[in-house]
Amino acid sequence: MCGIFGYVGKSNRAQDIVFEGLKTLEYRGYDSWGVAAKVKKHFFIEKHIGKIGNSKLNSKLSGLNSKLSIGHTRWATHGGVTVENAHPHLDCTKTIAVMHNGIIENYEFFKKDLIGKGHMFVSETDTEVVPHLIEEYLKKGFGFSTSVRNTFNLLTGLNAIIVAFAPSSEIVAVKNGSPLVLGADREGLFISSDVSGLISHTRKIIFLEDNQMIILGKKIKLFELPQGKEIRPVFHKIDWKFEKEDRGKFKYFLLKEIYDQPKIIENIALNYSQEAKKLARLVETAFGTFMLGCGTASYAALAGVYFFSRVANKHVNFSIGSEFNYLENYLTPQSLVIPISQSGETIDVIEPVKRAREKGSKIAAVVNVLGSTLYRQADTKIMLGAGMEKAVVGTKSFTAMVSVLLLTAFALAKREKEGERLLRKTAKNVREILRDDFVLKIKKIAEKLKDKEHIFLIGRGVSYATALEASLKLKETSYVHAEGFAGGELKHGVIALIEKDTPCIVFAPNDETYDDILSNAQEIKARGGFMIGIGPKENNVFDVFLKTEDLSIATIIPQVVISQLLAFYLAIKKGVKDPDKPRNLAKSVTVK
Ligand code: AGP
Repeated sequence: MCGIFGYVGKSNRAQDIVFEGLKTLEYRGYDSWGVAAKVKKHFFIEKHIGKIGNSKLNSKLSGLNSKLSIGHTRWATHGGVTVENAHPHLDCTKTIAVMHNGIIENYEFFKKDLIGKGHMFVSETDTEVVPHLIEEYLKKGFGFSTSVRNTFNLLTGLNAIIVAFAPSSEIVAVKNGSPLVLGADREGLFISSDVSGLISHTRKIIFLEDNQMIILGKKIKLFELPQGKEIRPVFHKIDWKFEKEDRGKFKYFLLKEIYDQPKIIENIALNYSQEAKKLARLVETAFGTFMLGCGTASYAALAGVYFFSRVANKHVNFSIGSEFNYLENYLTPQSLVIPISQSGETIDVIEPVKRAREKGSKIAAVVNVLGSTLYRQADTKIMLGAGMEKAVVGTKSFTAMVSVLLLTAFALAKREKEGERLLRKTAKNVREILRDDFVLKIKKIAEKLKDKEHIFLIGRGVSYATALEASLKLKETSYVHAEGFAGGELKHGVIALIEKDTPCIVFAPNDETYDDILSNAQEIKARGGFMIGIGPKENNVFDVFLKTEDLSIATIIPQVVISQLLAFYLAIKKGVKDPDKPRNLAKSVTVK
């Protein structure tokens, strides 16, 4: 999941266009970045480790007159975070510049062969074999785009590869798995990892599909791979509203997006009854429904399983995306698969969905990004309407996913109005939690936890999903080791880790799990645990308690919002440099 941006056209500031484009894509991966610009028949290149942030192109590159440039922000897969491993990568002649998103599984074989032929390598990456393979084909007399096609046909793995060629001033892109979009305006042609990078230039977009190759030069040419049959490129006019998300009064997007939640939940309560009914009808008529998601989205899907059971007495299955590849044999044309994904680009969800479509199953995608791969692959599309989520850590997208699934469960039970009322009440309680006096209590708990190495979180039923999501928030935002458990599971082994003052967060909504989760809390307290209760009912087992409204099955939402705030303030107290872009992460994971 890297950021990719390229430009070829009339402007002689191509490198500046690319540099600005990269900044809009940095949430996709930010270990390092690089820009290559063509001057005459060669490429000049600049690379750095770390985020683009407020840096500028150095004078050597920014002073050039260039009409062809490509740039890349990297999330490291093969090879450490070093300048040498940053993209783009060049061939020996410095006339071919390559950047790549994804993985080349069979690169080592080719690297050995190329080194044997005298090619010089400077990086540990899989990507660097590509410019040298193309160079070999060019030496054998093949044309540039044919050399790219021949090279791509040799490689295995899911990826998107963008190649710029100085002698012909062309960019050729090929993809299998990772997203790529192209744009055109009167001045030139653009290529980007997603639409958000292009929208400031053009709304005339081509979505590159898997096993297609596109040539951007004097004009656009599109080919089917592997054979190379030319096909007509189809432009889409993007009329979507792309609200420019800025931080407003907040220092971090993460905090702004936490505070955005009440209005998003309210919007779903007030305006989503048709969407909920549409999804409910699909669940009702399917013979087997399977929700898929990864990370935060998977916990929303898990919560959904409890919603459909508790509210609508309906059995709906759930799997994390990467595991569904090994479970999907039972899919039939009567199955319904519901991929849930903020970005709509998570390869661990795209892959099984592709196979589900091959089996004729219906796909109903619940996503937050218009035009994303999952959005385009689905028969039915449910947009979350949470607005662009800029922080890498998911917050508003999670509560939007949970709200949509909750409303759908009530629609399935023919109790829509009750679901809408419950969500409106939930939005009101989230507003109360976001008040300064309540946030102060959370900050105090963050203060108590800031030196703790381990934090345990338990919940039962829907609160099991709450415990998992809350633990992920703590881990990825403040880097503390947090583990979420089903309340009944802790005593089956993990309780061995509880020592004096080991913090344990207990999610205790006023539902059928209350008494049992309190017993589990007692078991931990009896071994010295420091007990933090979150729910509507105080109890003396808790050393500290954060009260929520009694929202029955929707209590997950205020409990998770409290966890989001706790994770954020814990990160601040622990001196995490940039909570919007935590180390090692990326906003959409487009590699397996
Ligand atoms: C979000 O907090 C996480 N960083 C991550 O687990 C994320 O939820 C996961 O990668 C799935 O992303 P998606 O919703 O865009 O598919």
